[in-house]
Amino acid sequence: SLEIAPFLKQAHPVIPVLAVEHVEDAVPLAEALQAGGIEVVEVTLRTEQALAVIKAMKQVKGMVVGAGTVVRASQFRDLEDVKADFVVSPGATPQLLETGRVSRMPFLPAVATVSEVLKGMEVGYDCFKFFPASVLGGPAALKALRGPLPDITFCPTGGISLANCGDYLSLPNVACVGGSWIVPGDALKTRDWSRIEQLAREASSLRG
Ligand code: 3PG
Repeated sequence: SLEIAPFLKQAHPVIPVLAVEHVEDAVPLAEALQAGGIEVVEVTLRTEQALAVIKAMKQVKGMVVGAGTVVRASQFRDLEDVKADFVVSPGATPQLLETGRVSRMPFLPAVATVSEVLKGMEVGYDCFKFFPASVLGGPAALKALRGPLPDITFCPTGGISLANCGDYLSLPNVACVGGSWIVPGDALKTRDWSRIEQLAREASSLRG
């Protein structure tokens, strides 16, 4: 569906972008994030067990579990089966935009240019991921987009950290940011749940 805005609002200030290799890590990871104040996550379909990870994380009460790195419309069916709460793509095609529109799951397509925003608007979208944000000009680019596109909301992702996320979050057309820094690969590998909880707490305390 086109109704992603409430999820982005709930996610504010940050959606952790996760790549989880082992399904047995799903529940302790979700619990560590929740203990740190984060309840909305994006599980990328970059690992073999990603669908099982989504299913497992959904068992943790209160967790809102979206799927990321969705690059083909055919992936929506699997995500419906595991009851993903929302769907994120690093880009957008006419087929993805249409599949997302008619899906039960809210869809967040990504854009990098004004023309891509306009194509999404033609289908009815008014919220977009902005990816890869730091490469596309960072906060200055989003500030410039607000002139011609005042009613469009963005979730910038790519190259965002605790140090620079405030620059994005202070913009009126940014609903939340996405980033992988809350769950560093080495912390997940060593199952350092207390460090992940701490990183989540630092990020969630930016909530205004
Ligand atoms: C994504 O899929 O949204 C990005 O890979 C996350 O970007 P980051 O690793 O720079 O935070």
